[in-house]
Amino acid sequence: MKIAGSTTVITGGASGLGRATAERLSGAGGRVALLDLPKSPGAQTAAALGQNAMFAPCDVTSADEVTVALDAAVARFGAIHILVNCAGIGTAEKTFGKRGPADLAAFTRTIQINLIGTFNCIRLAAAHMAKNQPNEEGERGVVINTASVAAFDGQIGQAAYSASKGGIVGMTLPIARDLAEMGIRVVTIAPGIFETPMLAGLPEPARISLGTGQAGPLPAPPRPPGRVWSAGGPYHRERHAQWRDHQARRRHPHGAALSWKFGGRFAGWGRAGPPGTRMAPR
Ligand SMILES: NC(=O)c1ccc[n+]([C@@H]2O[C@H](COP(=O)([O-])OP(=O)(O)OC[C@H]3O[C@@H](n4cnc5c(N)ncnc54)[C@H](O)[C@@H]3O)[C@@H](O)[C@H]2O)c1
Repeated sequence: MKIAGSTTVITGGASGLGRATAERLSGAGGRVALLDLPKSPGAQTAAALGQNAMFAPCDVTSADEVTVALDAAVARFGAIHILVNCAGIGTAEKTFGKRGPADLAAFTRTIQINLIGTFNCIRLAAAHMAKNQPNEEGERGVVINTASVAAFDGQIGQAAYSASKGGIVGMTLPIARDLAEMGIRVVTIAPGIFETPMLAGLPEPARISLGTGQAGPLPAPPRPPGRVWSAGGPYHRERHAQWRDHQARRRHPHGAALSWKFGGRFAGWGRAGPPGTRMAPR
């Protein structure tokens, strides 16, 4: 996809990574539509970028508002070729801590904006991209989502954020498959840490631990968590019993994605996994 002459919709384009993307693409001769909250500095950002930029205020979680914003982008620039999903919020709260159980509304909001907002924009932008003439490579459009390293290596307090970003990673392949026949390419990037207003908005201990990786190693739980549910016939029950036995004799892993069904392997430790906690495949 050539940038010059193409139109890119950038959610969260008023700030941080979205704004930097807008600056780069408009600098390369592209047209950019910044979709961001009405209270954001989207209008100023678009004005600073010049004639080839516009601001379309909306909340990415709203079907109606995103529809209106995308229609405005098409009315101004004629088509939508690229969607960059950058709108998002960062939250940090322990699942259970000194202030009690985590706030469920905050968890829901994080999923709503980061994950459902991303899907909302993809589905509505795809409807516009599908009307484009394919280019010489057969492409009608490109979707670029923003996950995070936290999708794979979430730190203390990042349950909601990691879940939202893991959701983006998880839906990338099926969406790519859904849109392939229309010539719409879909990719997700998972950046590390950048100094942006989002990072600045986190409490200082969270900022420090994210920036230094101090929160990386997982503290061992005092004892193994409760039983892992499994269903199925005798084979499954036997394997489950083996697994329980195995775990009872080891320090139980904590926070890993568990897939005993596929050869008794723990996935997703990354660098956070303390040595000796992997279950040996058998
Ligand atoms: N900064 C980092 O270290 C980092 C690392 C990995 C991933 N990311 C991801 O990159 C993306 C951009 O983050 P950033 O650091 O530039 O943050 P930022 O706060 O600078 O920008 C996020 C933008 O999203 C907008 N936004 C928030 N909720 C919205 C909503 N409901 N509707 C429309 N717009 C909304 C905000 O107004 C803001 O302009 C986010 O998805 C973030 O999770 C950031």
